[in-house]
Amino acid sequence: MNPRTDRSIGVIDRYRNLLPVTEATPVITLGEGSTPLIESAKLAALMGKGCRVFLKFEGANPTGSFKDRGMTVAVSLAAQRGARTLICASTGNTSAAAAAYAARGGMRCAVLLPAGKIAAGKIAQAFIYGATVIGIDGNFDACLNVVRELQKEPEIAVVNSINPDRLEGQKTAAFEVVDELSDAPAIHILPVGNAGNIAAYWNGYQEYRKLNRASRTPRMLGFQAAGAAPIFFDQVVPSPETSASAIRIGNPASWGPAKTAVKDSGGAIDIVSDEEIFSAQRWLAANEGVFAEPASAASVAGFLKCAEPARRCGSCPFAQLPEESNIVLTLTGHGLKDVAAVLDRCPAPLKAEANKEAVLQLLS
Ligand code: F0G
Repeated sequence: MNPRTDRSIGVIDRYRNLLPVTEATPVITLGEGSTPLIESAKLAALMGKGCRVFLKFEGANPTGSFKDRGMTVAVSLAAQRGARTLICASTGNTSAAAAAYAARGGMRCAVLLPAGKIAAGKIAQAFIYGATVIGIDGNFDACLNVVRELQKEPEIAVVNSINPDRLEGQKTAAFEVVDELSDAPAIHILPVGNAGNIAAYWNGYQEYRKLNRASRTPRMLGFQAAGAAPIFFDQVVPSPETSASAIRIGNPASWGPAKTAVKDSGGAIDIVSDEEIFSAQRWLAANEGVFAEPASAASVAGFLKCAEPARRCGSCPFAQLPEESNIVLTLTGHGLKDVAAVLDRCPAPLKAEANKEAVLQLLS
């Protein structure tokens, strides 16, 4: 057999000794992780100070989001413990990943989704991977409450981020950033929904710092959608609202760990409006050729906000940005997950007769 490269081995085999697996763990993988770290000179120019900006494009994972990193670990360990059914609440991406890894591992999967509030691509994924799809009359927080009640049922494994194995897997993204840049960046920006990912990255960065693979840890900067910003406002939002449906969450499960990550790293949680999110999504695609889903564009919208000192929040870590710093933005999911979000906001295609002159006329 040909030797396997990093890009095909999956996060368990890439970071085995830093994950809670043993030789007895059946590795259920789709070759996730090792995603592109794309440099954006255009974003860097907006910030100035000789900084460099990198986009960690998690949409390049096998099911199109960062959830695959946590799911390979959670599903492999669930299989080792004898689980037959996986269950999760989701705004879409977790359910897509759970369904795919369940299929790969020969397990059943049930997903609880807020009815009518999930992007079409994500629903299609849950169905095609063979999951039992259950629409709940309520928002994500209500779905997660039901899942918590099912946690003690025999042979059922919950694969939401309340399962610590998920966050273990997701911390590998921080490892990859350090491995590629040879050190941790000064600032790491992420969208925040259920708040597991920002906590997972913080764990990963701290672990690499302790192992001396990084000389520092970054300031963690999280962005919530303004209509779904419980951490920013420091109160539960009973009816969260944002068109970035992946982060429409009013009572995040990892609220405490996210606050710790922000406090201990010298970072912040801030908000961006839906308008800023969709404008950032368009900017990124049209200027860098990177198509990220709306929730992911919250990272970019946040960066653009911070690039203008007058718009920064009081504790913005950019206020103390040293010259020539590296800044990393995580783009959590692929834009193709939610094409309606784009088509609802773009004009109809131009029309032309099938000849050269008609096309040239439109281009002139
Ligand atoms: N970006 C995307 C594309 C997501 O799907 C999510 C969360 C987040 C950001 C926020 O990450 O929850 O770790 O703070 N999606 C979950 C789901 C809730 O069910 O797919 P977080």
